[in-house]
Amino acid sequence: MIVTTSALYRVAYGRFAIGAYNINNLEQALGLFRGHVQAKAPFIIQLSKGARKYAGVRMLEAIIRACDEEFPEAIYAVHLDHGDEKTCYDCIDSGFYSSVMIDASHEVFEENIAITRRVVERAHAANVSVEAELGMLGGVEEDISVDEKHAMLTDPDEAKRFVELSGCDSLAVAIGTSHGAYKFSGKQSLHFDRIAEIQKRLPGFPLVMHGSSSVPQEEVARINAAGGKLDPSARGVDADEFARAIPLGVTKVNIDTDGRLVWTRVHREHLRDDPKNFDFRKPGEIFVREYAEFVRAKSEKLLSANTLESVQASLLAEV
Ligand code: G3H
Ligand code: 13P
Ligand code: ZN
Repeated sequence: MIVTTSALYRVAYGRFAIGAYNINNLEQALGLFRGHVQAKAPFIIQLSKGARKYAGVRMLEAIIRACDEEFPEAIYAVHLDHGDEKTCYDCIDSGFYSSVMIDASHEVFEENIAITRRVVERAHAANVSVEAELGMLGGVEEDISVDEKHAMLTDPDEAKRFVELSGCDSLAVAIGTSHGAYKFSGKQSLHFDRIAEIQKRLPGFPLVMHGSSSVPQEEVARINAAGGKLDPSARGVDADEFARAIPLGVTKVNIDTDGRLVWTRVHREHLRDDPKNFDFRKPGEIFVREYAEFVRAKSEKLLSANTLESVQASLLAEV
């Protein structure tokens, strides 16, 4: 069942985080639904502009609607990831999306507010909620100074002003993570002090953590052993840190890269180990199984496993 993103946030805030996973095809959708039904966890399906271009807007919608019928127990929201203004309006007008992200974080502060404000007005009129972004979500490397590191993170006072003036419903904050497989050189943890400062100024307001893949070393090693050439120093976010970020207001956690790594590992190993096969459904089945297990295990780290009953109860109470 597709629900509003706001409804999920209301139940989750401070208790657990909702895993938000990007999908581009049928296999990812199947793994995502299967894993979350097994875990009894709510989730968010994210569609990026790239995914909409790759699979087609109508195809993605049809895949999700078909999964909805196949997995009637699933409770989830559908979200546009890293949208520009035009794509946000397309999604709002489609009536299919629970929420959109307007990513104007590359603009100066005032312009980011103005663009976000416009999207919020259109979205709220259609009962769609809006995620905005403030701060520079770059790799915060170990070899830069503490002052430089802090300058890249979201400023707590600005975050408060941004939320008040833009009217957004959740905020993606720069707290030490970055997109892709090469996030940190060496060991790096989230900037909990910064998250706490933001929460102090925005109590009860959902914060979103992008760039939250863990980039497991074992996964990278297996990909490379099967012919891949990923940098073995690739590191991600330690999934055990989610539990510390959740009471500080982190309510949505975005994960895409890890799913791509599972896909790459499964297919590279399959092609290496079964060179006579040319039936793509064989690695496809393995991927769906492994990806389902991946999201199931991730929901334990996000503390969202076994929360479906309380989510259902809260949804019923709202009706
Ligand atoms: O943060 C971006 C997501 O990983 C989506 O990636 O734009 O290549 O679909 P994409
Ligand atoms: P990762 O690259 O860490 O998976 O981040 C995904 C993301 O933030 C999607 O918006
Ligand atoms: Zn992102």
